Amino acid sequence: MNVLVYGATGHTGRFVVDELLRRGLVPVLAGRSADRLAAVPSRHAGLDRRAVGVEDAGLLRRAVAGAGAVINCAGPFLDTALPLARAAVESGAHYLDVTAEQPVVQALYRDLDAPARAAGVAVVPAMAFYGGLADLLVTALLDGGSRADEVDVAIGLDRWWPTAGTRATGERNTATRLVIRGGALVPLETPARPATWSYPAPLGGQPVVRMPFSEVITIARHLDVGELRSYLNTAALEDLRDAATPAPAATDEHGRSAQRFVVDVVARVGTRTRRVSASGRDIYAVTAPVVVEGAARLLDGRHRGGGAAAPGQAFDAADVLAALQRDTGAIVVRSDREPAVG
Ligand SMILES: NC(=O)c1ccc[n+]([C@@H]2O[C@H](COP(=O)([O-])OP(=O)(O)OC[C@H]3O[C@@H](n4cnc5c(N)ncnc54)[C@H](OP(=O)(O)O)[C@@H]3O)[C@@H](O)[C@H]2O)c1
Repeated sequence: MNVLVYGATGHTGRFVVDELLRRGLVPVLAGRSADRLAAVPSRHAGLDRRAVGVEDAGLLRRAVAGAGAVINCAGPFLDTALPLARAAVESGAHYLDVTAEQPVVQALYRDLDAPARAAGVAVVPAMAFYGGLADLLVTALLDGGSRADEVDVAIGLDRWWPTAGTRATGERNTATRLVIRGGALVPLETPARPATWSYPAPLGGQPVVRMPFSEVITIARHLDVGELRSYLNTAALEDLRDAATPAPAATDEHGRSAQRFVVDVVARVGTRTRRVSASGRDIYAVTAPVVVEGAARLLDGRHRGGGAAAPGQAFDAADVLAALQRDTGAIVVRSDREPAVG
């Protein structure tokens, strides 16, 4: 089955195309600019290409026709997700994206759940480093349960070299960030109190800020959580906010930067506290095996039916994490270390 990659010209899109090829799937390269599509790396030059903007629904549907799944890597997703996901659903293709933007996930759940169910396809936004990994880790930690009194998600990066797409997305998305408190989605309180988080080595203890991403919306979609707190280490945020911080540079044969990450999750259910973390290299590169694992499972039927769903709702979370660790080496998962002091 063909997998159409929209935004195949971008930094993340290229990792996704490489990962599809590595897994023997057939990528179709798509994007808004024929010139940019003509300038893809020579290893992608033999692949089918479709230049189409998101403004014309009819043209988008024609571009998507024949694909079994669409992976959207073109952000800001506030501009691309709804029209592309609608075209995918109307063409009978599954849809996944890598958005970290909360309002995008809310809009896809709201507008496309019923049409996707009717079409028998799945819409799975935020199948990525931000959003999806935390959702999968929390789901796996609850081990078949669907409720937790408290969940902390702490993302730690030794550096953040942001892409142009990340910077544009941050400027475009001015929506108030949401958290879960009292079992409901509510605005993040600002200013947040200073906090520290005890990350696994080598990051160790770090100042952190409350920084909720799309995991809040995906987790609220399928799990009953009393309070969800999301953190990012302050050093990573300072890199992002510094206009002089360069874009990521390739330092290995896979094109990955030297950046190291950890997603650390602690969940309390009654008196029982459990902890799991996933660590690895390069938040953009790791997004490719995450979203392609989702696409592969949608195509071969290892998912839980049609409709708009969170990653841990659409897929067997523990099995996805195990596959990412075992088959792709993308992450290392460790569970039940000493509880962190948040
Ligand atoms: N959740 C996560 O963990 C995660 C991980 C990776 C990336 N992301 C997000 O993914 C997005 C892309 O990141 P990136 O690193 O690949 O950035 P990038 O290298 O700057 O690429 C951006 C891509 O989006 C396309 N694009 C942007 N606006 C568009 C529009 N209005 N219509 C059609 N295409 C559009 C660009 O097309 P042109 O080439 O024609 O300009 C390009 O293909 C960003 O929003 C980033 O935050 C999220």
